[in-house]
Formats: sequence, C-alpha cells, structure tokens
Amino acid sequence: MKHLLSINDLSVEEIAHIFETASEMHDVQKREVKKLPVLRGRTVVNMFFEDSTRTRSSFEIAGKWLSADVINISAKGSSASKGESLRDTVLTVCAMGIDGLVIRHPASGAAHQVSQWVDAAVVNAGDGMHEHPTQALLDAYTLQRRLGSLAGRHVAIIGDLTHSRVFRSNIQCLTKLGAEVTVVAPPTLMPSGIDSWSRTAGFATSYDVDAVLPQADAVMMLRVQRERMAGGFFPSAREYTVGYGLTRDRLRLLKPDAPICHPGPMNRGLEIAADAADAAQSVVLEQVSSGLAVRMSVLYHLLAGEES
Ligand code: CP
Repeated sequence: MKHLLSINDLSVEEIAHIFETASEMHDVQKREVKKLPVLRGRTVVNMFFEDSTRTRSSFEIAGKWLSADVINISAKGSSASKGESLRDTVLTVCAMGIDGLVIRHPASGAAHQVSQWVDAAVVNAGDGMHEHPTQALLDAYTLQRRLGSLAGRHVAIIGDLTHSRVFRSNIQCLTKLGAEVTVVAPPTLMPSGIDSWSRTAGFATSYDVDAVLPQADAVMMLRVQRERMAGGFFPSAREYTVGYGLTRDRLRLLKPDAPICHPGPMNRGLEIAADAADAAQSVVLEQVSSGLAVRMSVLYHLLAGEES
C-alpha cells in the first residue's frame, strides 16, 4: 500500500490486516506511556483545507504515539490564504523531505491529484463529497468489535447521502465486508443515479426510516451538511427531523443491541436526538477511540517500511 486514497484501493485481506494492527494499537490507549518507536525518524504533515476536530487530532495523536514528527498546516495561516496553489503548497512541503501527507480538501479528487505530484505517502482525510476512507475503516472496525463478522449483518445508513463522503466510502467498505446495506434519505438528498449504482454495488434504497430501523443490526446516522447546501433540500429542520431523524420515539424501533453510529460532528436535535446520541447503544465516542487506533494502523502500514 503506497497511499490510502479510496476504499477501492483496499482488498478484503488488506482491510483485515489494518484491523488486526488497529486492535494491537488500541491497547496503547490503555498504557501509561502511550508511545511506540515504530515511526521514529519519519515526518508526517497533516494538511487540512477544511475544518476538522476528530480526523485532524486523531491523525496528529496517531503520528505522535508512533514516534513520528508531526506538523499541522491549515489553509488559514498558510500561504494558501495568499493565493498559493495546492500544487505549489504540497511541492513546497514535500521539498522538506517529509514521508507522509494527510490531506483534507473541499475538492473531490484532490488527494488523488496530490498523490500524482509527490513521493510521500498520501492519505485522503476527506475530499469534498467523494471519499473519507479512514472514517469508513473506523466505522467498520467499530461495528466488527460490537457485532463480530459483518457478513450478512444489516446496516442502515440514514441521512444526507448526497453530500456525504462518509456514505460513499462506507458503501464500499461495508459491502466488501459482506454487510447488507440499506440507505435511507429524503428524495432530495438521494444522490442522482443511485438506482443504477445500488444495483451494481449491491445495496438497497428506501425513503421509509420507520420500515428500515426494526430490520437493522446497526444504524449509521449522517450529518445534514448545511454548509454544502446552496438551496432548500427540505422544507424545514422540523420536517427533516420528523421524516428522517433518529428521534426518541424511533429509538424504540431499533433492536436493543443495535449500535448507533454517527461520524460526527452531530447536529443534535436535527438528524439525531440527544436521547439517541447518548443512548447506551450509541457508539459515537467508541468510533472516536477506534478512529485513533485505525489511523495509527494506517500510518504504520504506509510508513513503517518493508516489514509492515
Ligand atoms: N467525522 C469527521 O470527519 O469529523 P471531523 O470533521 O471532525 O474530522
């Protein structure tokens, strides 16, 4: 594995290998001294052109716990704000001899484009509405720890599908691992072409949350991405919640042990009620700690050398 740009780059065996290493990395979180020497002498740059809490901080902690030198660059505060192009910015940083570049960018395909320009290993930390592969890996890893094998398990993905890179990466990851996936959204937030895509990729679509929830072994709520919406995709927040939110009433439709996932950040009271976000079966914070373990594993496999 030279880069991690898309879930499509990974075989089922490679995903299993990442999860095995993540499981070992997870134990580091319980140690008093949270440090492994495996990336000593490597330098990782986190370059974020979009805001982030979870992804940026977990990649930073992951690199540091693996003993890499880590620096963070964001659009604000870098020469990108003076008009420097993405190509010039990444070539400048890579001219300093870095080993890994973790990049988030609002343009779909940006990480792939960057990987063509540089020798460093590139990790896609979210490119526009396209992909967020480490999010999908951490989601599947979290669910596997809760449910065991995902083969034949039914996962419902509900919410703003149109704008979601998390959904696009998760569809690939979950179906690769044998899960049965049903995606649910209002008609205005179903991506165009989803009928032919769902037939090819082997997942189901629905507009009826109440019919899907009782069948689900796990539910993944997606954030309504208001910052990517130019027009009105639904009449009002209240109507979205009534039609598609995981409300307190809908919690009763779920199997009692079905994990509730949300990639974060959550719009509490819009796509997910506080009762659901904080329910005993919510794994939202578990996703965050799994995310750190999975990102440690990804950096290790990309940067530790031949033996990884
Ligand atoms: N899930 C996710 O990507 O969160 P951040 O935007 O906080 O990184």
